[in-house]
Amino acid sequence: MTLSVFAPGRVNLIGEHTDYSGGLVLPIAIQLGITLEVAEVGCALSIRSDHADGWQRYADGIAAELAALGRPDVGLSGTLTSTLPAGVGLSSSAALTVAVGLALCAAADWELPPLVLADACRRAEQRAVGVPVGILDPAASLLGREGHALLLDCGSLEHSWVPVPTEAAFVVLDSGVPRTLEGSGYAARRAELEAGMPSRVRHVCTENERVTAFVDALERCDLAAAGGLLLASHASLRDDYEVSTPELDALVEAACAAGAYGARLVGGGFGGSVLALVDRDRAEGFVAEPSGGAEVRPRGTRSAARPPTG
Ligand code: GLA
Repeated sequence: MTLSVFAPGRVNLIGEHTDYSGGLVLPIAIQLGITLEVAEVGCALSIRSDHADGWQRYADGIAAELAALGRPDVGLSGTLTSTLPAGVGLSSSAALTVAVGLALCAAADWELPPLVLADACRRAEQRAVGVPVGILDPAASLLGREGHALLLDCGSLEHSWVPVPTEAAFVVLDSGVPRTLEGSGYAARRAELEAGMPSRVRHVCTENERVTAFVDALERCDLAAAGGLLLASHASLRDDYEVSTPELDALVEAACAAGAYGARLVGGGFGGSVLALVDRDRAEGFVAEPSGGAEVRPRGTRSAARPPTG
């Protein structure tokens, strides 16, 4: 048996630093991601890659989490390739655990509901690098739908899909400041929130409200309102949650000066990328303008694991 698995990266449209307190998130799975070509099943777990740094600990992490859930011990060997740049905040580490997790499940002919697998991927990342991440990234990678954003309540795990208006284009602009959650203030922010620090709590409360308002704006195709909410989210992440950097702040301003409806830092912060909402008709010119960004499109992930033809 051979197998090819694709796990997409994600861009969270809004709802940042809300997942680990059971709040709302609104990610899209994107067209960039990680592919695992499995050459052999039933051997020792062995995965080659020339792109991802330290990928082995993620692969071992998800294998251990699936074993704890009762997955039969069937190894595999394969090769990872990626179209997802690492360290820019598009969730390459979650795509990695999702790709390996899906392949390990398929190799053992063993299935898990997507959000149970997503939670195993979350624990695997925590096991691999010790960062107490939430479920946002693997859930987005596993539940993406073409042309839709995923509205997920990270407390109840209730979810639905929200159509993204065809008039809207989302562009990701890399700040050039590499981001890893290890060594960033991510764990400290979470601890401060859990300790009830007022500014951290205020960010989460207002951000949850912004997610609901953003969904409403998308449904009305009110891109100006959606852009305003992105800017408000950025201000809250900068001032109340304190996860921005001067480079990210400057990029948000540059994006707006170049005609975006709004923009904000995306992902955990402390570096990484900015997400800008622009008019579909202006997307091409915009990508060339502020700093050479890339358009991201909501793709479906249902076709994630497919046996090769022949
Ligand atoms: C990182 C984490 C996610 C989430 C975001 C912030 O991407 O992996 O779980 O907490 O930061 O929204």
